[in-house]
Amino acid sequence: MKTEIVYDEKEIERRIEALGERISSDYAGEPLVCVCVLKGAFMFFAELVKHIRGEVYIDFIRLCSYDGARSSGEVKLHNDLSISVADKNVLIVEDIVDSGRTLEFLRTHFDSKGARSVKVACLLDRPKNREVMQEVDYKCFTLETSAFLVGYGLDYDQLFRNRADIAEVKFE
Ligand code: IMP
Ligand code: MG
Repeated sequence: MKTEIVYDEKEIERRIEALGERISSDYAGEPLVCVCVLKGAFMFFAELVKHIRGEVYIDFIRLCSYDGARSSGEVKLHNDLSISVADKNVLIVEDIVDSGRTLEFLRTHFDSKGARSVKVACLLDRPKNREVMQEVDYKCFTLETSAFLVGYGLDYDQLFRNRADIAEVKFE
């Protein structure tokens, strides 16, 4: 399958470090629960939490909403958190916010568990594909096109997640 690099590893890491700095100062002195949305966010999450200072709890949640390059439009919960978020500040860490459905589901989920605040950090934001209103609080890159991207955790049919860069899949 043909791919073309969009962001290289150095650029990605620079952006993530800057995001970590902002998050650290925004939550200064307050504990934060960082939630990794599996599987796509695993690499971004690992890099990001290294740059967040302070009292950080980490946990994982597993959802599914995508089948290949096509959204099924439905979000399901596979594995829930293992720690309580009641009265805690939650930072949802996502690979890409596209239609916004995953985020809408997660916000509702954490609100219902009594989180004190819920914010979102994503590696990629693609506002032009939004189907439901969802704003992101922290992001590394904003996408202007609908190109399908892989790498740095993002997959196409479960492949390419291990790539250290982000690339566009050239379907033709
Ligand atoms: P949303 O619910 O439509 O916002 O989609 C969120 C999920 O769709 C992301 O967490 C990704 O797993 C997947 N996704 C959306 N666009 C892409 C892409 O370009 N490449 C790989 N996965 C994608
Ligand atoms: Mg995802």
